[in-house]
Order: sequence, then C-alpha cells, then structure tokens
Amino acid sequence: MIRFGFDHYGDPTVLTALKAAVPLPKAGQVQLQVLGFGLNPYDASLRRGEQAAFRKLKWPIVPGTDVVGRVTALGAGVSAFALGDVVINYRPIGGYSEFVTASIGKLTKKPAALSLPEAAALPQVGLSAVTILQALALEPGQTLAVEGASGGVGALVVQLAKAQHLHVIATASARNADYLAQLGADEIGLYDQEDVGAKFKNQADATVNAVRGGQDYGAGPQLTRPGGTLLTTADAKPKTDGKCLELVQLGDRSQAKPEAAFPILTALAQAPGFSVRIAKALPFSVAGVQEGHRLLECHHPAGKLVVMTEASPE
Ligand SMILES: NC(=O)c1ccc[n+]([C@@H]2O[C@H](COP(=O)([O-])OP(=O)(O)OC[C@H]3O[C@@H](n4cnc5c(N)ncnc54)[C@H](OP(=O)(O)O)[C@@H]3O)[C@@H](O)[C@H]2O)c1
Repeated sequence: MIRFGFDHYGDPTVLTALKAAVPLPKAGQVQLQVLGFGLNPYDASLRRGEQAAFRKLKWPIVPGTDVVGRVTALGAGVSAFALGDVVINYRPIGGYSEFVTASIGKLTKKPAALSLPEAAALPQVGLSAVTILQALALEPGQTLAVEGASGGVGALVVQLAKAQHLHVIATASARNADYLAQLGADEIGLYDQEDVGAKFKNQADATVNAVRGGQDYGAGPQLTRPGGTLLTTADAKPKTDGKCLELVQLGDRSQAKPEAAFPILTALAQAPGFSVRIAKALPFSVAGVQEGHRLLECHHPAGKLVVMTEASPE
C-alpha cells in the first residue's frame, strides 16, 4: 500500500509516497481502508520539525490524525463494528495512508448526515472545540466571542456553543459574513471592515482566539469583560492589555478523549444546519498532499482541507 510521509523536515516538497505492508488489526482493533483524511495545521508543524523537541518519532513520519474509512478486517474481540461499516477515526499519527489499523475506542460510525469529506474533516477540530467548551464551562445565556469563527476550529466552537445555548459573537473577514450567520452566530464582527474590539467592548464572558496561526490581533482583551476568560489556540500566552483576565492556553489542557467527544460531535452533526465547510478536497497523490500542505500555510478559503482516496465514491 501507499502512504505519504517524509524522512527529513522541510517545506511541502519533503512529502513523498512511501510503500508499506498493509497493517493487520490486533485484538481490539479494526483495519480500515482509508476513504479520506483531514489535514491540520499540526501536520504542517510536524513536517517543519517544530514538534521534534516535544515528540520523538521514528522516520519516516507519516502525519494524519483524522480519517474516514471502511472497516475491512476485525481484530479479536471486536463486536461493536462490522465489516463494511464506514467510521471516523481520530489517531495520534499515520492517517495519510491507504490502510490503517485503529483501536475501537478511537472510532465512531459515520453519521449519515455527514458526507465523506466532512467526516474526514471533523475529528481534530471537533475534539479541540469540545475541549475548548469544556475548559470554559460557561452557563447557558452567557456570551462567548469566537475570533477566527470561519476557520476549522472556530466554526465548530460556534456551533457547539449555540447547542449549549450561549450567546455567540463571531468574528472573521467580510468574505465569510454569510457563513458566520449560517453557523448561527448571534452577532458578527468583520475584522477587515470594522473595529470589532470597540464594537463589542467588554461584552464577552469569554473569548476564544481561533485565528489562523493563533495570532494575537489584540481584539480578545477588548471583547472580554474584566474578570472574563481569554482562551487561545496559540502556543504563546495572549496579551491582556493590562486587563484582569483569566488566561487559558488550549495546549495546556488535556484534549477531550475521542470516547467522550465523539458522542457530542455525532449528535451535533445530526442537528439541522450543521456544517463542516470543506475548503478543498484534494486527490490522494503526492501532488495532492503537497498542495494541501502549501494551502495549510497560507490564508486559504474558509473551511477544511481534506484528501480523498480513489476508494471513496464520488
Ligand atoms: N485544526 C485543528 O485541529 C487545531 C487544533 C488545535 C489548535 N489549532 C489552532 O487553532 C488555530 C486555528 O486553526 P484552524 O485550523 O481552525 O485554522 P483555519 O481553518 O485556517 O482558520 C483560520 C481563521 O483565522 C481567521 N483569520 C485569518 N487571518 C486573520 C486575521 N488577520 N485577523 C483575524 N482573523 C484572521 C480566518 O478568518 P477569515 O478567513 O475569514 O479571514 C479563519 O476564521 C491555529 O492556531 C491552530 O494552530 C487547530
């Protein structure tokens, strides 16, 4: 089988096709024929070598945390899944492959309401969004501001927050204004057309910075009321502009376990109007994976990047 990975760090051209034996499931695992996989900023960070100090991995490194696939073999003791089931898998690494094996705790059946690209796009952004809402622990009726609400993580946070009856202020660029309304945002701030910090000054009980690259554009401290919470998806602590705020870095929190988060996400996926926007579905080829990584590193159209294999129906 083919998988895509790299044997040294660098730009997207380090990603190549690698041959490997089809993996066999151990007890408690299934084998999946991969129908598609999602790309995330973390994959590009791994490829650039930025995770090398935190995570020791053997070469070649095959990225990929998000997979949708068809069950093609069952390990001993597996009864919760059957041959032919189409499932979503969240995994530590290795999803850029034709076949993978996965423990059953890391799987959920694909809800019929999700297309295959949407299912491939969901796991990591979904788990991050669940982790964010759990870390904030807001009460129904409280106000949450989401900066970067048109992005993979931000759009999921908005939809989960609405499902929890929060009042949501969502910010993004004007090209995504309609999308923010479609997600159910109560109020919208367009950072390229207005001063969103001034428009919603001190209105949020909590603000999530889910801006591309976790950049600190400074609106969070203005949006958040004194004593409120500012949560960032970035590695660096956000500036508070001298305001008394509780600072939370997503990376410091234990990520929600797939076993706990998948039921929340699959229930949300069946709600009317639920959306996982796909920015681009790329082909399962070296060119497709390299292009996906180039797009990850630029200000690409709103939504998720996925690679769909030839095994996935049109
Ligand atoms: N993807 C994951 O699973 C994951 C998991 C954990 C943490 N994170 C982190 O979460 C952050 C967001 O990741 P993502 O995958 O959701 O990114 P993404 O899909 O690329 O979303 C980027 C968001 O940033 C907004 N944005 C871009 N430039 C901006 C600017 N100059 N000012 C204000 N907003 C701007 C975009 O809005 P417009 O396009 O409308 O301008 C969009 O809403 C990153 O720091 C990432 O490392 C991601």
